[in-house]
Amino acid sequence: MQRVFSGVQPTGIAHLGNYLGAFRNWVALQASHECIYCVVDLHAITENWQTGGTLAQQTREMAAMLLACGIDAQKHILFAQSSVRAHAQLAWIFNCVARIGWLNRMTQFKDKAGKNRENASSGLYVYPNLMAADILAYHATGVPVGEDQRQHLELANDIAQKFNHDCGTEFFPRIEPLIMGPAPRVMSLRDGTKKMSKSDASDQSRINLTDDPDTIALKIRRAKTDPEPLPSEARGLEHRPEARNLVGIYAALESVDHAAVLREHGGKGFGTFKDTLAALLIDKLRPIAAEARRLLDDPSSVDAVLRDGAQRAAAIADPIVAEAERLVGFLRP
Ligand code: AMP
Ligand code: TRP
Repeated sequence: MQRVFSGVQPTGIAHLGNYLGAFRNWVALQASHECIYCVVDLHAITENWQTGGTLAQQTREMAAMLLACGIDAQKHILFAQSSVRAHAQLAWIFNCVARIGWLNRMTQFKDKAGKNRENASSGLYVYPNLMAADILAYHATGVPVGEDQRQHLELANDIAQKFNHDCGTEFFPRIEPLIMGPAPRVMSLRDGTKKMSKSDASDQSRINLTDDPDTIALKIRRAKTDPEPLPSEARGLEHRPEARNLVGIYAALESVDHAAVLREHGGKGFGTFKDTLAALLIDKLRPIAAEARRLLDDPSSVDAVLRDGAQRAAAIADPIVAEAERLVGFLRP
């Protein structure tokens, strides 16, 4: 059975892009794969350094959201990254495998660091090395992510290959990105050329998985569109990023493709389509938000899930990372 690994940062409230690009697929893969899912709190401190209890609470909330979406922590594994030491240990080795030139090509670093590169943390720069360690510490081969993570997974394969080559082994397997569904890149509701993101200054740009029905309806009604009615064929969505985004969201929620949505809604104006889309979103998201709230009523139960997950995760990762360390040649006196 193929082993799957994926992660999400606890840097804010999960949004519709996380759900359609990642979580939904994570849930679906549980039927056929051995799945390990991780709230990546080590990655979260590469930016937005916050002291006090905020990070811990956000980690707990993200875990609750994943459980509410349908992650089965009994059959599979859900844990917080910082509680399994193997991630940071292997990441250090990978810091010494990855080349500066490779990291310089990472578009996410360029986007996140922006103009103020000199002031970005060095952790943000080596973020992809830690991400490679997350996956390879488990010898996972399937990685379900949104489209924005593709470049990081290519880098992870480069790291694995160089490690194998330098150590003269085939120790780390090749990773396959699993980029699934009709909405692998959900765009901002305010600008169809920007991805929906937790860090966008405007809350109107995203649907949070915790938004109440009125907020969802309002955000969809206000979503940017163009004046034309919906086309009747998928090719009519070219050069219409906002229309394409809303149709993609609808398609993903209904588990159909763009063409099927347009067969039903092509020719309609956005007013009607948005009402139907908002109703569908409310229908899908309301039970998830309610379940996450219910779980958080008893925070210790979420913590217990994460504690158990960390133990089971460490049992897999520790021997793999110990072997990587042996291959590097550390003295074990
Ligand atoms: P992050 O919130 O950056 O930790 O991302 C967690 C997961 O959600 C990753 O697999 C991302 O690729 C995915 N994701 C984040 N934003 C989007 C988006 N706008 N569209 C599709 N997938 C996304
Ligand atoms: N970098 C990913 C993101 O922001 C999160 C992540 C960290 C991840 N480690 C991972 C995803 C390992 C897949 C596998 O979306």
